[in-house]
Amino acid sequence: MMLKLEKPISWLDGVDTSTGVIKQKNHPQKGISITGKTVVVPGSIGSTVGAYTFFKLVKNGSAPRKIVLTGPDSVTIGAVLAGIEVELSGSRGTKYKLRIKGVPERFVRYLEKEAEMTEAEEFIPVRSVHLSGISYATIGKAGLEFLREIHSSGVHFQTLTTTNPAGMDLERWRDMGVPGSFAEKQLEIVSLLTEMGAIPTLTCTPYLSGNLPLFGEHVCWGESSAVAFANSVLGARTNREGSVKGMVAAACGCIPLYGKHLERNRQPTLKVVLKCNLSGPMEFGLLGFLIGREFPDAVPLISGINKMKLSELKALSAGGAASGGIELFHVKGVTPEAQLYERYDTTSTLPVGKREILSLREDLSTFNSSPDLLALGCPHFSAEELLEFMKMVQGKRALVRTWIFTSRTLLTAFRRSGHLRILKTAGVEVYADTCMVVCPLERMGFRKVATNSPKAAKYLRSMRGVDVMLVSLREITNKFFS
Ligand code: F3S
Repeated sequence: MMLKLEKPISWLDGVDTSTGVIKQKNHPQKGISITGKTVVVPGSIGSTVGAYTFFKLVKNGSAPRKIVLTGPDSVTIGAVLAGIEVELSGSRGTKYKLRIKGVPERFVRYLEKEAEMTEAEEFIPVRSVHLSGISYATIGKAGLEFLREIHSSGVHFQTLTTTNPAGMDLERWRDMGVPGSFAEKQLEIVSLLTEMGAIPTLTCTPYLSGNLPLFGEHVCWGESSAVAFANSVLGARTNREGSVKGMVAAACGCIPLYGKHLERNRQPTLKVVLKCNLSGPMEFGLLGFLIGREFPDAVPLISGINKMKLSELKALSAGGAASGGIELFHVKGVTPEAQLYERYDTTSTLPVGKREILSLREDLSTFNSSPDLLALGCPHFSAEELLEFMKMVQGKRALVRTWIFTSRTLLTAFRRSGHLRILKTAGVEVYADTCMVVCPLERMGFRKVATNSPKAAKYLRSMRGVDVMLVSLREITNKFFS
């Protein structure tokens, strides 16, 4: 039986892994099961951790019989490693032969298969890998079993490999209220990856923690927000790589050359004309979210912005990759490749005004009363954001429990500098290694969470099942600090 999906699917939170039924909000095939069917898929959106969904579907007996992709999509091709047949419609099926010693045969065959499906031009070495899918809350038992299996087969990563956030602060998980049974599994995941050669940076901003690709360098990154940042802001080259494919690339040291690695696929396909002033991560996150929702696989060329801060570029990257599959955007006058397209024409145009931004903000919020947690740092706070927030709350006191997430590197430096004490005095807890979306928040008793991140707002609802309020940083100090 054949099922044709009319819109891209978010594998991480768009399919019920125990039943195979599509649950993605507003998806035309919502309520229909993919189990046992040949599913025609126009690509995926959202998190790269979705690649682990295939292992869960197979384990639960709810996997599709076969997936037919209508365009190359690394996250979905990852289903091959879970044993699901995948083909790309229209592919000429050119055969490739790759010889790499000392890695599992199925990893090498996987890369050959991916190259065959995507009609890759060649295999290229990658400068670094960034792995998503580190939290036990997202990969579950099926993911842990896969990691145990590849670890016991002697896999060793040859390439610089950093890791996304885990499901808890590795040092202070008890303070967060993480259950011991969860912590045990989480610690095992981190040690399996570390023993295979990964550097446990445990942050979604690897470019701020030692994994900084230069302009034009080819990398293989998961974590959709970091992918968009690497391509757009740094000018590096990566596809939105599924979490499992990352491990294959880390072990083999190379990937097939296709997608955003090729200049011709980096040209704009959509003009976004901004007709209002935006400021702050929430508003830029909403702009990205709006673009991704309307044009999920576009390469937007955005005009109407004079300059942007690092926090706003991070938020724009995260927004477009959460609602859609935006791997690359150009902002005139801001991002490095935009100047190549000064007079470039596209067939589609998306005008965006304040009204669209405000109405999306309302759509993403589900309550307007007092939250039981204020959670910031999606993507992880930079040094600049930590300092700015510290200045905003200095001398004040949090009225609700307030958590900030950042990298271990920055947390350590801020602790050493004494800055952390100011935040602590204001009642702010700063955690590293994890975030509000990938820690088991619902098991810690939180029900209503305020955040300034549209990406977090989406996933807090769909994955953690909590109510969400979207607030800007400016509003936060007025509303939640005295
Ligand atoms: Fe990072 Fe977690 Fe957001 S991994 S981008 S803080 S959902």
